[in-house]
Amino acid sequence: MQHYKTSLIDEGATQALGKSLARCLQPGLVIYLHGDLGAGKTALTRAILHAAGHQGNVKSPTYTLAEPYQVQIHGKACKIMHFDLYRMISADEFIEAGFRDEFNADTICIIEWPEKADSLLPAADLDIVIDILDEGRAVEIKANTTAGETSLAGLHFAPNL
Ligand SMILES: Nc1ncnc2c1ncn2[C@@H]1O[C@H](COP(=O)(O)OP(=O)(O)OP(=O)(O)O)[C@@H](O)[C@H]1O
Ligand SMILES: [Mg+2]
Repeated sequence: MQHYKTSLIDEGATQALGKSLARCLQPGLVIYLHGDLGAGKTALTRAILHAAGHQGNVKSPTYTLAEPYQVQIHGKACKIMHFDLYRMISADEFIEAGFRDEFNADTICIIEWPEKADSLLPAADLDIVIDILDEGRAVEIKANTTAGETSLAGLHFAPNL
């Protein structure tokens, strides 16, 4: 599957999608999250992290640009890096923080506001686009690589359940 579309009627549905995504992700994936302010990028990431076993808070890493989490994916320890690049001013910030090393086979990188990093970021395996509707959200997930396709093929999500 290269393309998946669904709607999320309320925040509970966003949480449910995060839970379903946590079950189909693989270490090494790079996931871009697109959507306006308040679209639900952090809400979706939070749901993925909680479903993957993280028990504490998940705050938007607005000023630190990134936050690491140790979770379990398919029963194995895995790191998820949650980026929010909204306030990134220069490429130097990203490079000096050593963020490029986080893009490796053992880590899932989830990136809010990838647009702010221009060509600095490795390409996305999955692009997730969230649109704000009058009621709820529309979500589109696009797989750009074989790894992304493999993950998306394993997504089982039943909205409104
Ligand atoms: N499916 C949904 N329907 C309606 N509201 C939702 C849905 N999912 C999440 N929300 C709400 O939308 C808001 C999303 O906020 P969130 O911080 O996740 O957005 P964001 O995309 O990360 O924004 P930013 O770009 O500022 O980081 C929250 O108030 C949440 O309750
Ligand atoms: Mg956010």
